[in-house]
Amino acid sequence: MKPGKVARSAALLVCVLAAGIVPAGAQTRPMPGPSDAHARHGHELFLQNGCYLCHGTVGQGGVGPAIGVDVLPFVAISNYVRAPSGEMPPFSTRVLSDTDLQDIYAYLISLPQPQAPDSIPLLPKVDVAGAH
Ligand code: HEC
Repeated sequence: MKPGKVARSAALLVCVLAAGIVPAGAQTRPMPGPSDAHARHGHELFLQNGCYLCHGTVGQGGVGPAIGVDVLPFVAISNYVRAPSGEMPPFSTRVLSDTDLQDIYAYLISLPQPQAPDSIPLLPKVDVAGAH
């Protein structure tokens, strides 16, 4: 294949992946999709390092809190993972490098965020404050 043709094919593949994988309405902010290499690597690291044991396979929470929704800024995650103040074991740069932690962050922010209840037409509108 000629170089130009390869580039066009790659661009087409990217479009097809982007259109097919991201569910409509799930994207509330620019974020890497599951096709992002860093996010994919981050998912592997999330499993390999045992984060999933306490935070759930998709960061939904378990023994530890949910960390895949309203993801904290990278610096906050990094500070906590390096020197946790509670039950969580610390992960030093020797066991989990900064680059790897950035990939875990890329994975966390790639996760689809829950839809705002107001944006789901089939849900009845309930006035929670006034309900009784
Ligand atoms: C043995 C269980 C366990 C493992 C393994 C674990 N965590 Fe945690 N994590 C916790 C608990 C419990 C908390 C809540 C605070 C505390 O008690 O330390 C927490 C808190 C956090 C927080 C702060 C969340 C917040 O809302 O303040 C982040 C970020 C986090 N963990 C990321 C990770 C990452 C990334 C990994 C893998 C590298 C990991 N954790 C592995 C148990 C764990």
